[in-house]
Amino acid sequence: MSIESGKDLAGMQAISEVVGMVLKQMQQYAQPGMSTRELDNYGGGLLRKHGARPAPKLMYGFPGHTCISVNHDVAHGIPSPNVILQEGDLINVDVSAERNGYFSDNGGSFVLGNDIHHHNKLVNASKRILRAAIDRIRAGMRIAEIGRYIETEARKEGFTVIKNLVGHGVGRSLHEAPFEIPCWYDRTNTARFKKNGVVAIETFISTKATAVVEKGDGWTYMTRDGSYVAQHEHTIVVTDEQPLILTEANGI
Ligand code: CO
Ligand code: CO
Repeated sequence: MSIESGKDLAGMQAISEVVGMVLKQMQQYAQPGMSTRELDNYGGGLLRKHGARPAPKLMYGFPGHTCISVNHDVAHGIPSPNVILQEGDLINVDVSAERNGYFSDNGGSFVLGNDIHHHNKLVNASKRILRAAIDRIRAGMRIAEIGRYIETEARKEGFTVIKNLVGHGVGRSLHEAPFEIPCWYDRTNTARFKKNGVVAIETFISTKATAVVEKGDGWTYMTRDGSYVAQHEHTIVVTDEQPLILTEANGI
């Protein structure tokens, strides 16, 4: 969407603060021995308390309030009583929700407890690259240039990027134009960031993979070569200067 009024901005700020805070609180609540269903129910309760409706459920009938993806599962993981979190797991929580007709989206990967499997280099690279990429976005810039930047920075640290998961426009629905904000240089993508446009910028940084596959449950995307992926996501407003990061409350 495009921010056209003070009401639009206030509406987006309000729901963005909710999803940012819920993401942060879910990360803090996660413990070894807890199921992803239990973690999701906690997040769902927080969203309800703030009058927000989980967007994946609302828009697509997703079987959960949030997406929780563990280890080789990368995105759109279904919360389950059978997936039990363990020390050192690489966990991704993605929280998107709607309130008063405004949608916001954010997500983040983190290591549970002690980093016994050494995932933190990947997680920290993804976080740093997301912030640096967002700082460079200006109205009128080609979307492909941000993809090029993310891919280049990932490569410098010895990582790859996932080419078939993307950031996107957001605001009046969960996914809207521009539908493709890749984290690689797609020269065929001639779209530009628009002033006052609301977009979700997402990194998908991997130890090795360049694509994910659907797992067979209709939702979950996973790597099939044993590699790991870290994702971090903010919803922002594009301006002539540094973007306004709406989901700052997530602490990423
Ligand atoms: Co998301
Ligand atoms: Co998104």
